[in-house]
Amino acid sequence: MMKILSFVFFAVAVILSIVASPSSSPSSMFNSLVTSSASDNPFFTDDFYRDACPEAETTIRSTVIELFIKDRTIAPALIRLVFHDCFIEGCDGSVLLNATNGEAEKDQIPNQSLKGFDVIEQIKSRIESVCPSIVSCSDILVLAARESVYLSGGPFYPLRTGRRDSLSSFPKTALEDIPAPTDPLDSFLEKFSRRNFSLGETVCLLGAHSNGEVHCNFIKDRFSNFNGTGLPDPTIEQEFLNRTRAKCELDPTAFVDLRNEGAEQPGFGTHYFQGLVQNFGVLPSDQELMNSEKTASWVRAYASNQFLFMNDFSRAMIKLSEIGVLTGPQSGEIRSTCSAINQ
Ligand code: HEM
Repeated sequence: MMKILSFVFFAVAVILSIVASPSSSPSSMFNSLVTSSASDNPFFTDDFYRDACPEAETTIRSTVIELFIKDRTIAPALIRLVFHDCFIEGCDGSVLLNATNGEAEKDQIPNQSLKGFDVIEQIKSRIESVCPSIVSCSDILVLAARESVYLSGGPFYPLRTGRRDSLSSFPKTALEDIPAPTDPLDSFLEKFSRRNFSLGETVCLLGAHSNGEVHCNFIKDRFSNFNGTGLPDPTIEQEFLNRTRAKCELDPTAFVDLRNEGAEQPGFGTHYFQGLVQNFGVLPSDQELMNSEKTASWVRAYASNQFLFMNDFSRAMIKLSEIGVLTGPQSGEIRSTCSAINQ
């Protein structure tokens, strides 16, 4: 009995350390949270900038905090930005590039409402002033998103650094592969599965929608003309439907809270999943998770277990932040401005 109790206490302590504050040593959480496959790479390590630019991570953290105090919406904007970067050809800062010839990733429809580019540029210019041409924009982005998750009430997770920036933008892939809010369930699950995310990891990552906002135009059809029927999506909870439809009809350019209008709890958390169980999902793709038992069972698991969600979200964000990284002197470059490749 004592053995079982001590095991339970140990397991709780480990989970607590994972969801603990940034003051917990990242390296002590590191082994428990990262996959071993990339650990042999000397160009992609824990605290890669320790000697070359020791100010890097603290400058990122202090700038994100400073800007977050003035405007809390930068946090969800940066979390969305890292997803749109890493999902397309890996975490290489390609989403940050401006078009030079034709269109860039950021000009494509799924990316036109992205925000936070100015925050990344601001951090980059502060870092360049202390250690020029050392810290990549792709590392700045994943680290700034990590700070944003934590500031929004989510977990703090360890991240390796040493990413380098891409020499191109991938507009066609962005157009085809960023999931749309109207995608059927199997279609967006397939996009995640191609990037090696399991069902549980995909459902968990969508928990990022517990925080942030959505333009009415992404959801208006769901509230009045679902799938061309001229009627609302029949699964929407009635009061929520009335409230949200009235808000969007009054001002079609308005934003609706992504975490769902029924949720009491602000910021990051399991209320997103609780909302889906009650048909309060805002994006059609979010509510789709309840349309199949294979994803609904994960939604219910996260809805009822905050530790499970925080722990799995940390792992899923680490995995997202390590997709297709460019490392080593032969790959990519360290941009001096995040919106343009070096001349
Ligand atoms: C099926 C997959 C997904 C779809 C269809 C989707 C779609 C969307 C849409 C349409 C918006 C609203 C954008 C706007 O109105 O400006 C949004 C916002 C957001 N998304 Fe996703 N998303 C998906 C997955 C993810 C993932 C995996 C993450 C992060 C890990 C994420 C993070 C966010 C955040 C934080 C916001 C709020 C942005 C803000 O308030 O500025 N999304 N998403």
